[in-house]
Amino acid sequence: MGNNKYKKLFEPYQVGKLHLKNRMVKTAAQTYFFESGKHRVGSIAKAFYGAVAKGGVGLVVVETPAMEWPLLDDGDRRMRIDSDDNIKDVKELADVLHQDDCKCFMQLYHRGPWGKEYNFIAPRLAASPVQAFSEYDVHEEEPPKAFTIEEIEETTERFVMAAYRLQQGGFDGVEINAGADHIFHTFISRYWNKREDEYGPQTFENRMRFITNVVTGIKKRCGDDFPVQVIMNAFEYGVGDEGITLDEGIQIAKHYEKIGVDILHARTIIVGHHQGSYNQEVLWYPELCFDKKDLPTKEMDWKHRGAMMNLPAAAAVKKATDKITILTTSGFDAKTADKAIAAGKADLIGINRRIFADPSYPNKMKEGRPEDVAPCTHCGNCNKRYNQARQCRINASFGTDLYDVKKADKKKKVVVVGGGPAGMQAARVAAMKGHDVTLYDNGHILGGNLPLAATIKGTEIEPVPQIYKYFETQLKKLKVKIKKATEINDSVILAEKPDTVVVATGALPGYPDIPGIDGPNVIKSSDLYGIGKFFLRFFSPGFLNCVLKIFVPQGKKIWKPIGRKIVVIGGAIYGCQLAEFMVKRGRKAVIVEESDELGRLFAPERKNRLFIWFRKKGVELMSGVKLLEVTRKGLKIRTKEGEEKLIEADNILPVGVVPNTKLYESLKGKVPELYNIGDCDDPAIIPEATGAGWRIGNQI
Ligand SMILES: Cc1cc2nc3c(=O)[nH]c(=O)nc-3n(C[C@H](O)[C@H](O)[C@H](O)COP(=O)(O)O)c2cc1C
Ligand code: SF4
Repeated sequence: MGNNKYKKLFEPYQVGKLHLKNRMVKTAAQTYFFESGKHRVGSIAKAFYGAVAKGGVGLVVVETPAMEWPLLDDGDRRMRIDSDDNIKDVKELADVLHQDDCKCFMQLYHRGPWGKEYNFIAPRLAASPVQAFSEYDVHEEEPPKAFTIEEIEETTERFVMAAYRLQQGGFDGVEINAGADHIFHTFISRYWNKREDEYGPQTFENRMRFITNVVTGIKKRCGDDFPVQVIMNAFEYGVGDEGITLDEGIQIAKHYEKIGVDILHARTIIVGHHQGSYNQEVLWYPELCFDKKDLPTKEMDWKHRGAMMNLPAAAAVKKATDKITILTTSGFDAKTADKAIAAGKADLIGINRRIFADPSYPNKMKEGRPEDVAPCTHCGNCNKRYNQARQCRINASFGTDLYDVKKADKKKKVVVVGGGPAGMQAARVAAMKGHDVTLYDNGHILGGNLPLAATIKGTEIEPVPQIYKYFETQLKKLKVKIKKATEINDSVILAEKPDTVVVATGALPGYPDIPGIDGPNVIKSSDLYGIGKFFLRFFSPGFLNCVLKIFVPQGKKIWKPIGRKIVVIGGAIYGCQLAEFMVKRGRKAVIVEESDELGRLFAPERKNRLFIWFRKKGVELMSGVKLLEVTRKGLKIRTKEGEEKLIEADNILPVGVVPNTKLYESLKGKVPELYNIGDCDDPAIIPEATGAGWRIGNQI
């Protein structure tokens, strides 16, 4: 067990005949890593699930497949399980997952009443035509269609057959998602279920009839010893008395135990906050979206910004039930998971995004190597894409079929210029390939713009410093020579006699060329960030973020505070986050953007929440504007509608970046192998930078 500090978490566990080597479960999450053609299990799915199995988790729950076909054209990138023809694919996937004594289930669900981007994949159905519209959600104002009895029976059979096909294909069990706001929940919850037939809310048995028939149907078809895991909502928040109470949650759990469910995956749901119900930290972005006095503190843990939020409900269910295994999820790490199991609050712990970020998380924690874990920093980027392979900002392999770094045939002398995420990643991978790597950076700390980003974002929801600390540790372990605070030019680099140079020096500031842009009331992001970088030599981003709540200086004019009324020029993620930072410090902000797109580069859930918050705080967002002039009184623009307007402000804050090819151009033809990557090539955000570093590092 090496330096394993988490004895409970790595204890084996038995569920009937199913032996799990430890208590860690990779929970189901759509990745869209499957192929869209006839044969679904391609190299991307194999690479990811293979890495997860080898990474040491005890059980993997594979994301939900399509159970009906055709729902959508060939473009649907999910597994299929609608016919016996799919069993071959299932078997291929099971073989990938059964490495290193890893066990596998697959989740089955019917989305139910979801709308918006999911609309085209299936009709919106629920127990009753009840709507739960919320500006934070995937639901629509229009109510969904109610399931007919015939449809209920067809769907029951579809679940049973899908489970049977999984069993035929070698899967160790099945998970039925009766949680979230999916179809079964709309029958179980008194808020959603207004039916008058035998599936209606008149009795507990009626509400549970649909899911009961599915579970007993699977047990009948697959045998009592084929494990069935059910996701349940042990508590439903946000719909008053009609929501599932914790007492009712306990009653539901006991019912599942009685009908032979093997594992209960206990979660909670906040109606109107679909993503906020499973990646709960978003509820705090940019500020907690509920009134603190209304929070249900007995049923949910609100103390850790979303982490372990389901634990109180799961523990209550565990206490009230007899033999059924309790699994719970949400923001766990090895330490909190170990404690929860040791305290008897759950038997198994689900961990999802830490495995996205680093599939070897279990093995590394077991071996006592937490510093080698690529950290999940809760950025939401993995939830950005729909129906195309998802990405992770720290794990550049995620969504590709390249997980292993192969040793290079010939050792090269590699110089990487720039210690941001692209440069550090390229240096790390090149060193893993066996090259002799030197990393130059002109700053005093590594991380490029990440320490600044952390100062602006704050470190409570997204602990960005973990990213550059991880990279720096890895570079040291890999014996990369790091030269900080060095003046960088051609001759310094060429003196190294490199075979390969990777330029990753970051973007240059770029501001609109309008009259007044150099005026005294303009505070350029480069001035603001320049002073930030100076203080980051001595203080942490979290500390500076706090200190700046008291006084925000005008960049170079450090003695002078930024005025009360500001205009931010630039409506992409950088400008929006700067505006958020300033509004949290009492400023009144207007954001102007020349293109038609506001909030570019945000994960959609974050953007939606930030824009709702902006509305509440009176932040005006204007897109499609023409910038005319900065005057002493503010910023003159022409609106999308053609109206000339002066936005009165004390200070104008232009935020802009442009590629930076200077060093790259000057080195062209002088070194055998040369690359320009990351923001200096194409300014974007962290996933693009770490992705570019990964690709180029592998290529060298
Ligand atoms: C991109 C993404 C997709 C998800 N899809 C599903 C899903 O299809 N079914 C499900 O039950 N949970 C889904 N989840 C929830 C996860 O299984 C897990 O409960 C959640 O991420 C909290 O665990 P973590 O904090 O360890 O990531 C998804 C989560 C993410 C980030
Ligand atoms: S994309 Fe962000 S939230 Fe998702 S796993 Fe990676 S680091 Fe975590």
